[in-house]
Amino acid sequence: MTSKQKNSGVRPASGRLGILTPGLGAVATTFMAGVESIRRGRSKPIGSLTQMATIRLGKRTDNRSPLIKDFIPLASLDDIVFGAWDPIPDDALTAARKAGVLDERDLAPIAEFLQGITPMPAVFDNHYVTRINGANVKKGKNKRELAEALRKDIRDFKSKHGLDRLVVVWCASTEIYLKPGPQHATIAAFEQAMESNDDQIAPSMLYAWAALMEGVPFCNGAPNLCVDIPALVELANEKGVPISGKDFKTGQTWLKTVIAPGIKARMLGLKGWYSTNILGNRDGEVLDDPASFKTKEESKLSVLHTILQPDKYPDLYKDFSHVVRINYYPPRGDNKEGWDNIDIVGWMNYPMQIKVNFLCRDSILAAPIVLDLALFSDFAHRAGMKGIQEWLSFYYKSPMAAAGLQPEHDLFIQQTKLKNTLRHLMGEEQITHLGLEYYA
Ligand SMILES: NC(=O)c1ccc[n+]([C@@H]2O[C@H](COP(=O)([O-])OP(=O)(O)OC[C@H]3O[C@@H](n4cnc5c(N)ncnc54)[C@H](O)[C@@H]3O)[C@@H](O)[C@H]2O)c1
Repeated sequence: MTSKQKNSGVRPASGRLGILTPGLGAVATTFMAGVESIRRGRSKPIGSLTQMATIRLGKRTDNRSPLIKDFIPLASLDDIVFGAWDPIPDDALTAARKAGVLDERDLAPIAEFLQGITPMPAVFDNHYVTRINGANVKKGKNKRELAEALRKDIRDFKSKHGLDRLVVVWCASTEIYLKPGPQHATIAAFEQAMESNDDQIAPSMLYAWAALMEGVPFCNGAPNLCVDIPALVELANEKGVPISGKDFKTGQTWLKTVIAPGIKARMLGLKGWYSTNILGNRDGEVLDDPASFKTKEESKLSVLHTILQPDKYPDLYKDFSHVVRINYYPPRGDNKEGWDNIDIVGWMNYPMQIKVNFLCRDSILAAPIVLDLALFSDFAHRAGMKGIQEWLSFYYKSPMAAAGLQPEHDLFIQQTKLKNTLRHLMGEEQITHLGLEYYA
């Protein structure tokens, strides 16, 4: 019996899977172009756990470490169909060329495929993303009507392409900072606020509502609230649909969640962490608006406190200073540069410094995350999971957590949780690394 057969509770990944992205910009087009290149054997799925990672099963001596994709029933890349919404009417080829992430030598062979992906009219409002203007926008008498139009898009896309299942991944611009309020507290309040065009209901929330109403899992790659409000968590649970967010964990924050657990594991102290970035893509331009930057800043700042727990370790982490800057600098395009200066303290309070200079490519790091989130969310849905998927925290800067719980930020705890969830869902023993065999 293979591992896949062990658990019959997970529905098989039969038929085609639609992946819809609000936003057809740098991240979404890099993701779609990458999947198509992989399907044609022109590229390898580097950075994707669903495609490349293995998972250990049983005891170390058992020597069972299949690829994750051979262990759990995941949709095959060949069965994926892409769609998107964007206020800018460019097809995926034009959008990819404008984003400037991928070279022409990688775009040219798949040009026709990318040209075939044209964005549906978006639910878009300049109030929430001030630096973008586009004409490919839906009209409606209120937000409820706009959200209903998104539901229709989802249904039409499904029937047009003969799809079995769908997933929606928010890859659109970061919206302005909003705080959860009474409009977001219950499904009834939320729906009432859509009817009355309340300005606390952002477009991203309408996409999330529409997806959940259609029974479609929803992932949020940006830091704006979106699906992270009680009303939509309640709706996800009611409809039996997995949700996750917020903000893809790429670049600087990913490294932060690698380095900070290392400092803490050795009980070294932290005096300060200064992070600065320059980037010149459209995301950088949107984040140049202070209201959108505030959303991003909140997301980036939360990470260190939850990992280091200053209240538990006041001698090491009380009052450390944490500064995050993002500067829009057009010459760099999507090739961001991040600097981190980390002031740590060791034995007898002697200071030390760590400097990190990361020349990363934002969308190259984000694309495999979009793929994994879509495939894992679809898998979770077929496994009967619903509501917040904390095991997908691995992919997010501001992971969603159940009310009253602190999100987990440590990349290695997140990885353990992810793999143990897969083991559990497939009826395998969870791995605790306890080595109990020594005590038998
Ligand atoms: N690249 C990364 O490493 C990374 C990491 C974390 C989060 N993110 C987030 O992912 C998102 C996408 O990043 P990007 O670099 O592709 O940005 P981008 O500016 O290239 O693309 C965003 C696209 O979203 C569209 N858009 C804006 N509002 C929309 C709406 N209401 N409906 C549909 N489309 C809408 C824009 O027109 C644009 O084409 C951003 O929010 C960014 O903050 C990216």
